[in-house]
Amino acid sequence: MKIGILSSGGDCPGINATIRGVGKTAINRYGMDVIGIHNGFSGLLHKDISTLTDASLSGILTLGGTILGTAREKEFRKILKSPDRSDRDKIKTAYKELELDCLVCIGGNGTQRTTWQLSELGLNVVGIPKTIDNDVYGTDITFGFQSAVDIATDAIDRLHSTASSHQRVMVIELMGHHAGWITLYAGMAGGADVILLPELGYDMKVIVDVLNKRKKSGKAYSIVAVAEGIEVKGGTGGHHPATYFAREIERLTGIETRETVLGYIQRGGSPSPSDRNLGTLMGGHAVKLIHNKRFGRMVSIKGIDKITDVPLEEVADKLRLVTRDHIMVKQGKRLGISFGK
Ligand code: F6P
Repeated sequence: MKIGILSSGGDCPGINATIRGVGKTAINRYGMDVIGIHNGFSGLLHKDISTLTDASLSGILTLGGTILGTAREKEFRKILKSPDRSDRDKIKTAYKELELDCLVCIGGNGTQRTTWQLSELGLNVVGIPKTIDNDVYGTDITFGFQSAVDIATDAIDRLHSTASSHQRVMVIELMGHHAGWITLYAGMAGGADVILLPELGYDMKVIVDVLNKRKKSGKAYSIVAVAEGIEVKGGTGGHHPATYFAREIERLTGIETRETVLGYIQRGGSPSPSDRNLGTLMGGHAVKLIHNKRFGRMVSIKGIDKITDVPLEEVADKLRLVTRDHIMVKQGKRLGISFGK
């Protein structure tokens, strides 16, 4: 068999471990030919490829980013949506000309939807979920998430000493457009006092009361962790949510407040050991699916040690979000952490 691998959407730590997991398993266990497709789905269309060998896949396990390149794919999605059949046929022709038996697509929600659409076009595809946001529906965890939580937790840890020295409130904004998983897990691990998530909303009065109460009880400083995707009533005036909350908190409490926006650092650098292993396991499972001709599925992790797969159809257009009754939220509340409401 001959398979192609591509990565699409925002990068995250662990993609290279996954490419290696797919490629080495395909070559060494099943004797398949493997090609890497560059810069996402547009690389498929333009047949921008390179051959992957056991040797070329060595030394990439610990590397951040993706050796194949990635893209946000607006143009490719336009083609898939186009009423003109001949546009979509170009995709099928490219797949045929590359003599592929299956295409492995590594990506987040958007990528899994596109992968499903390719399956609907009649191509053999397998999806592997990746994102630091951990919001892909149909899997309990995606690689990239744990690495991002490690980085975000380290950042919160470092804010404690400067917050304490100056007796300030520190607001830290973490990634997560729709889902607050990074903020929830890093906020809990870093001992944040207030955790604000897009899924749960907030009430400014509650936040102000919590911070005033902490100060009154002799606690010199406070940490507020906020997810970038939180919806601010009336808008942020073009600012980051962290800037908005820092200004409002200072105005309403009188406590000196500073903000930090961690940004792309959360997506960069070497994957954590657990993300390396997760990518390796997911890559291997994708190849098993291909060998057994079980196409149109996405690799999925259930619990802490069960690797399985789900139909792409079930995954497309859905998000996995934090819920009010999640164990981390419930335990946070028991500890006295405020979730802003
Ligand atoms: O998908 C992960 C993510 O990191 C989001 O949390 C963030 O909003 C988004 O990517 C931004 O990525 P880009 O600027 O690459 O579109």
